[in-house]
Amino acid sequence: MKTIFYFLALFIFGYAAAEQGKTQEEKPPIVPEKRVLHPPFEIGDCTLCHVEKDGNKYALSQEPPDLCYMCHERKDTKTRVHGPIAAGMCTACHDPHQSDTMRLLKADSVNDLCFACHEDKKKQFLSKPYMHPPVKDQCINCHDPHQENHRYRLFADRRFDLCVSCHADKKEWVEKVKNKHGAIKIKDRCLNCHDPHSSENEKFLRKPTAMDVCLTCHNKELKREEDGVTLMNMKKHLDENPDWHGPIQWGDCAMCHNPHGSDNFRMLKLPFPETFYASFNINKYICFMCHETERFTEVLTTTATNFRNGEVNLHYVHVNQKKGRTCRACHDWHATRDTPHHIRKYMKFGKIKAPLRYIPTKTGGSCAPMCHPRRYYDRENPVINKR
Ligand code: HEC
Ligand code: HEC
Ligand code: HEC
Ligand code: HEC
Ligand code: HEC
Ligand code: HEC
Ligand code: HEC
Ligand code: HEC
Ligand code: HEC
Ligand code: HEC
Ligand code: HEC
Repeated sequence: MKTIFYFLALFIFGYAAAEQGKTQEEKPPIVPEKRVLHPPFEIGDCTLCHVEKDGNKYALSQEPPDLCYMCHERKDTKTRVHGPIAAGMCTACHDPHQSDTMRLLKADSVNDLCFACHEDKKKQFLSKPYMHPPVKDQCINCHDPHQENHRYRLFADRRFDLCVSCHADKKEWVEKVKNKHGAIKIKDRCLNCHDPHSSENEKFLRKPTAMDVCLTCHNKELKREEDGVTLMNMKKHLDENPDWHGPIQWGDCAMCHNPHGSDNFRMLKLPFPETFYASFNINKYICFMCHETERFTEVLTTTATNFRNGEVNLHYVHVNQKKGRTCRACHDWHATRDTPHHIRKYMKFGKIKAPLRYIPTKTGGSCAPMCHPRRYYDRENPVINKR
């Protein structure tokens, strides 16, 4: 029994040793076996790149990048050259022979390749819940791996041109709208509000809510270039007036304003009258996106509004007229304080700022603006106001 095993072991060992010797002699040290083959390697003429030198059969005839530039265009002729290319390290990213990844890459995917060196970015991008689809796909959707003339080797100017090369609808929109947003013209343009890679926030916003984004600039008075109109300091207004209107409580200024501009007054998503007085038209009030219209269309009512004297609908009386008062006469739908129903303290009439002097009661209220002396309304016991 023992002898049989002995001979068997000897036989196997001898055979294996003979095979190994054969491989060393005849089989080249690297054989084509991967999916992507570099043509000069594939044709098997190793001397295209290798020479025998000092006993090394596979010494390089010259070092990269010059070796590569024998057959390829230079990758360092533009104004911005990627670090490893400037250092001639073509083989940091490419295998000169073969790879299972396109373009002979030394990683399983483009992003793995980039992240191999940019580990900090990997952490930064992947730790956030919202990732811009082209970033998730591959970094080279925007960055050239070798060289470019634009900053960060992007294919186009990072602040606008790059974004609209894919978001063509946005380019069309921001160019065609009547009321353009200063935010898209100044500083970092699209990047003022959006992160190009990834974000904690939906739509890759740089701040948790649209409002936080808005208040990074609207924390001071801003001037409109076209007509020199000064826009109020919204942050200060909100800080001083803690009773915020619903959508502002939700942090969503973009429910009413289109951050990319619009054809409507003040870049609103729907129309709103520009002036103190306006001929009433249901389609002219963005407010009706959320509020019911009966409040303004019913002459007599006991339900549609609380702004009534008995059954007489005072919203109708004031608003639904040829020379109707627009909501801005009485309300401030950004924010108010001390008064209910977002009733404003002062109305702006031309250049004049006049107090409303609104006083609510349990069943009605009164006010004494500059339009008329103090008048009262009461839902339960209608008041007869003296003329
Ligand atoms: C297009 C040029 C090119 C061709 C063609 C080429 N090689 Fe290479 N080879 C290189 C470069 C460049 C390196 C150095 C790799 C590095 O630094 O990572 C290399 C390295 C090697 C090495 C060293 C071990 C290693 O992988 O680093 C061997 C062995 C080798 N090549 C064998 C071959 C054989 C065999 C052939 C022909 C079938 C061949 N090469 C064809 C460019 C080439
Ligand atoms: C002897 C000529 C020759 C040399 C030297 C050479 N290449 Fe190539 N390479 C080619 C040819 C031919 C192709 C196929 C045509 C093309 O894509 O330009 C190619 C293609 C490539 C590709 C694209 C592969 C694909 O999947 O499309 C990469 C990447 C590449 N080479 C990198 C290198 C690098 C890096 C070096 C230097 C280490 C190098 N080459 C040296 C001839 C060469
Ligand atoms: C930082 C990693 C990296 C380095 C370093 C690098 N490449 Fe590339 N290379 C890539 C990637 C990624 C692609 C794929 C680009 C694509 O498909 O658009 C690519 C594509 C190529 C291609 C095929 C497409 C083209 O642009 O012609 C060639 C040839 C090439 N590289 C040559 C080189 C040479 C030569 C060097 C050294 C001077 C080099 N690469 C250095 C990452 C790199
Ligand atoms: C072999 C390592 C290596 C790989 C792989 C690599 N990079 Fe780089 N990258 C560098 C170095 C080194 C710098 C220059 C360091 C610096 O200036 O911060 C750099 C700089 C950059 C910069 C400019 C950073 C700045 O702040 O100016 C960008 C953008 C960049 N790389 C993108 C990429 C992308 C995209 C990929 C994948 C296609 C990639 N890198 C793959 C090493 C690498
Ligand atoms: C949608 C286009 C786009 C894609 C895809 C993209 N980037 Fe960028 N990248 C940009 C823009 C725009 C900037 C300039 C940012 C700025 O100025 O604030 C930038 C800047 C950078 C910088 C330098 C500035 C910094 O933040 O450190 C690095 C590094 C970088 N990108 C790496 C990557 C990597 C890695 C990937 C792939 C995982 C990638 N990028 C994919 C658009 C892109
Ligand atoms: C390479 C093409 C490409 C580039 C360049 C690009 N994007 Fe995108 N972006 C996409 C794709 C694809 C989507 C996902 C599909 C969609 O919603 O349009 C997307 C989605 C978005 C979204 C979210 C859309 C939604 O409804 O949720 C925002 C915001 C965005 N991109 C902003 C930008 C900004 C800002 C830039 C410039 C820094 C930019 N993109 C550059 C391709 C691109
Ligand atoms: C003032 C800040 C701001 C600027 C500047 C800005 N955006 Fe936006 N963007 C937003 C906000 C806020 C949203 C979410 C809008 C909403 O909910 O209606 C958004 C949404 C988007 C969306 C997805 C929804 C949609 O409207 O299609 C895309 C795509 C987008 N922006 C691209 C861009 C591009 C491209 C630029 C530059 C031309 C840009 N943004 C400039 C704030 C901005
Ligand atoms: C990067 C700075 C910046 C950010 C962020 C920003 N704005 Fe503006 N905004 C401006 C400037 C500058 C103006 C005045 C210049 C102009 O529009 O011509 C302006 C004007 C406006 C106007 C008046 C437009 C008109 O037609 O009269 C409104 C309304 C407005 N912004 C709302 C917003 C909202 C809502 C957000 C957040 C989604 C926001 N802004 C974010 C800079 C910014
Ligand atoms: C309910 C809809 C609505 C919401 C939500 C809203 N706005 Fe407005 N906003 C308007 C209307 C309507 C006007 C026009 C006011 C006028 O001219 O009296 C306006 C005017 C403005 C103006 C110009 C003010 C001026 O001085 O003439 C700015 C700036 C502004 N909004 C920013 C914001 C910001 C920032 C937010 C979020 C904090 C926001 N808005 C939320 C409806 C809204
Ligand atoms: C002349 C002043 C005035 C005008 C103009 C006015 N309102 Fe009012 N509104 C009031 C008063 C006063 C109340 C409080 C009624 C009460 O509860 O006693 C009120 C209440 C409201 C309420 C709370 C529900 C209700 O009807 O009791 C809403 C919503 C409202 N107004 C929306 C609007 C809108 C939208 C516009 C413009 C289309 C507008 N208002 C125009 C004075 C006005
Ligand atoms: C996106 C939806 C939305 C739009 C558009 C909107 N509102 Fe409102 N509004 C609300 C919500 C939600 C509330 C309840 C929370 C609160 O009191 O602010 C509210 C409350 C009010 C109140 C106080 C109601 C009460 O019972 O005290 C008034 C007044 C008001 N809105 C006026 C307006 C005016 C004027 C406009 C148009 C410029 C407008 N709203 C546009 C959502 C909206």
